Amino acid sequence: MKRRSFLKSVATITTVSLVGCKSTSAHYRPLHLNNRLVINKSHLANKSRFTVAFKDQIIAIIQHGADSYIALGMNCTHLGCEISPVEDGYICPCHGAKFDQVGVALKGPTNINLPRFKTDADDTNIYVEF
Ligand code: FES
Repeated sequence: MKRRSFLKSVATITTVSLVGCKSTSAHYRPLHLNNRLVINKSHLANKSRFTVAFKDQIIAIIQHGADSYIALGMNCTHLGCEISPVEDGYICPCHGAKFDQVGVALKGPTNINLPRFKTDADDTNIYVEF
């Protein structure tokens, strides 16, 4: 195989591999200490929710009161697709399941709520039991 053909093959394989991957690059990657995710509050800056990635999970952190937070798993409880935030909650792009802002299943094909993780906070950080 000539050099040019080889490089073209590598570029094609790389492109196909990247397209097939589930991207988590837009999600904040928190510290993981003592079975807890540690998320600096500065990442919330003027947002009521944002997402973090840990291992193969995406977790939404939602401010729910002055210093109270909810952590929701972002994989649909039907077949595991990554759900998307909408104004009043979350929808699943795969088969149309809908969840409210705290993860309660509103519309099928699933009636199982999103998983919720225990949270705690201090002046600096939000902690998610994981
Ligand atoms: S995987 Fe979400 S509705 Fe099917």
